[in-house]
Amino acid sequence: MLRSALLLLSLAVLPQQETVRSYGDMANGDGLSYTADGQFKMPEKYREWIFLSSGLDMSYSPKTSMAGHSMFDNVFVNPSSYRVFQQTGTWPDKTTLVLEQRGAQGASSINKNGHTQSPEIMALEVHVKDAKLEGGWGFYEFDGSPTAKIVKRPASCYQCHESHAAVDTTFVQFYPTLLALAKSKGTLSPAYLKDISTPTQ
Ligand code: HEC
Repeated sequence: MLRSALLLLSLAVLPQQETVRSYGDMANGDGLSYTADGQFKMPEKYREWIFLSSGLDMSYSPKTSMAGHSMFDNVFVNPSSYRVFQQTGTWPDKTTLVLEQRGAQGASSINKNGHTQSPEIMALEVHVKDAKLEGGWGFYEFDGSPTAKIVKRPASCYQCHESHAAVDTTFVQFYPTLLALAKSKGTLSPAYLKDISTPTQ
């Protein structure tokens, strides 16, 4: 009885977010890490990473209306993986891509037309290449906490990315500095090549 009470106590004082596995150049913010229970830790320095693109009010169905919810998304990738992509046209293991959503603001300060991005972050999602995971990639959705559990398969995330993304389940067709590179290296996915060869109604 006493022993189990002591065990409970020692578990309670263990640091909650203990890191057990880290990869890459963590000292320079270009790596990734998991907690003891396999959660992914939000990379703190992703804002210093390589910027791939901003999408505005992207929608995957012609009928979807974004009325009242105009939103930007910004995509970043860790710098060492970007450099590998430039050599090979695809991503190395442990590539981490971050999608950050911000509200599109109207007139403010001297801006009278068009849109700027809100200081608040509306959503943070991460896509990680890890050979240990089923399918080789995992998605994580952050809800304000510094760690997140993997989005379990089956999920729409995997389904859409695997059946429409241009390179290795990532949406390189929308990342202007990468698309031509992938084309020249011959790394475009069969799914994407099929999409662009099928005329849309
Ligand atoms: C119907 C299709 C679709 C679904 C479902 C979807 N995505 Fe995406 N995702 C996209 C597109 C398109 C982009 C490119 C965004 C851009 O160009 O700004 C993208 C980009 C991303 C990126 C940036 C890196 C990359 O892989 O290109 C992340 C991270 C991401 N999505 C996470 C998620 C998560 C998490 C889910 C599930 C909760 C999800 N996505 C579901 C279409 C989808």
